[in-house]
Amino acid sequence: MNILIIGSGGREHAIALAVKQSPLCERLVCAPGNPGMALLSECIPVSLTDPKAIADLAEKEKIDLTIVGPEIPLVAGVVDEFRKRGLRAFGPVALAAALEGSKAFSKNVMKKYGVPTAAYETFTDLQAALDFLKTHPAPIVVKASGLAAGKGAVVCLTDKEAFDIVEEMLGEKAIFGESGKTIVIEEFMEGEEASIFAICDGKDYVLLASAQDHKRAYDNDEGPNTGGMGAYSPAPVVTDALLEEVKKTVIEPTLAGMIQEGAPYTGVLYVGVMVTSTGPKVVEYNCRLGDPECQIVLPLYDGDVLALFDAAERGELAKLDAPKAPKGSAAIVVLASAGYPGEYEKGKAVTGIEEAEKQGARVLHAGTQMQNGELTTAGGRVFGVVGTGISLQDALNQAYGACEKVKFEGKFYRKDIGKKGLERCSK
Ligand code: AMP
Ligand code: GLY
Repeated sequence: MNILIIGSGGREHAIALAVKQSPLCERLVCAPGNPGMALLSECIPVSLTDPKAIADLAEKEKIDLTIVGPEIPLVAGVVDEFRKRGLRAFGPVALAAALEGSKAFSKNVMKKYGVPTAAYETFTDLQAALDFLKTHPAPIVVKASGLAAGKGAVVCLTDKEAFDIVEEMLGEKAIFGESGKTIVIEEFMEGEEASIFAICDGKDYVLLASAQDHKRAYDNDEGPNTGGMGAYSPAPVVTDALLEEVKKTVIEPTLAGMIQEGAPYTGVLYVGVMVTSTGPKVVEYNCRLGDPECQIVLPLYDGDVLALFDAAERGELAKLDAPKAPKGSAAIVVLASAGYPGEYEKGKAVTGIEEAEKQGARVLHAGTQMQNGELTTAGGRVFGVVGTGISLQDALNQAYGACEKVKFEGKFYRKDIGKKGLERCSK
């Protein structure tokens, strides 16, 4: 098959590595790709917000299956455009991708089909939202309904913070623009978070390994929120019993619900769960693989990732003999540019990747570029360094060993990725 991967981050680099290993892959094209992906495939520029241009590219390159990494093209309807033209793309149609694209929609789906989640109300009117806050004290969570690059959810620990952020979203400032014109205010949930990934074909699903992400910039979960500074998989907080509960109370009712809604869910259903004292509750749905979680859950899939995505797109997961358990453990540590997630400098020379990969770790590109034939930094999150092993400790040792070898000015990374998981393992 000729395969096209859409996206340019560490997640898409990991998808490219997994797809390239499959005997089903004859030719791999990535759009727009990154310098790491360029070592494995042909990279062609494309706009992620333009479903027609993406479908044109797939037609021109005679692509058999397109795998869409990020949420933006999915929410913009890229899969709908492919289907209209008789082309094949793995991912949800826009109506189904709205599970991520509109929190008002996803909360409504959860309520309608009995999926456990935080109690909530939806608002478009500023005064009504402020009145609601008067009877619902902090801690409370305020979320822009639309896509906001992961910045749209604000956990408010004081009443003032809640009033201020509601004013900023629904008032004149409209800090999230259209995305924040509708907001969801919801109950604060206490617990540990985990990510569950279901590969879905509209009715059936296959689970990948569970994972836990580290969103804060600094050790001990301090500092500002980021796109993710590291992750590990499987997450011991997700016990077999918890996973069964998530299947029965979240994934199965959601898939059945989306059939009722007229938008059967095909693609990755990423469920962010809070493990609370009264069981798992959904924090959010996403319509794609997590970044950086993708980079560690794909290597643990003990089968052919391309065959899995292909069967899901065809609606034929029931025929696939999917592995029942992940193989071993994996961890990823993100190497970031000094200043991230605030301002940071770009264009710093990078060395040491070959050296870092000598012991088996993989260095995945997230924010790099080629400048006059030299690899330099081009983003806040520059690389994700992935280690694998029999145990979580082995995986962390491999990843951290390699982190030291990659060099660029201003490099920083968290030193405590996986600590919570190790503590649970030793209990
Ligand atoms: P979201 O964009 O909905 O995933 O939210 C981003 C982050 O905010 C989550 O990963 C949680 O850490 C936190 N969060 C969101 N909703 C809640 C909630 N209801 N209770 C506690 N924390 C939350
Ligand atoms: N790792 C969080 C996300 O992909 O949204």
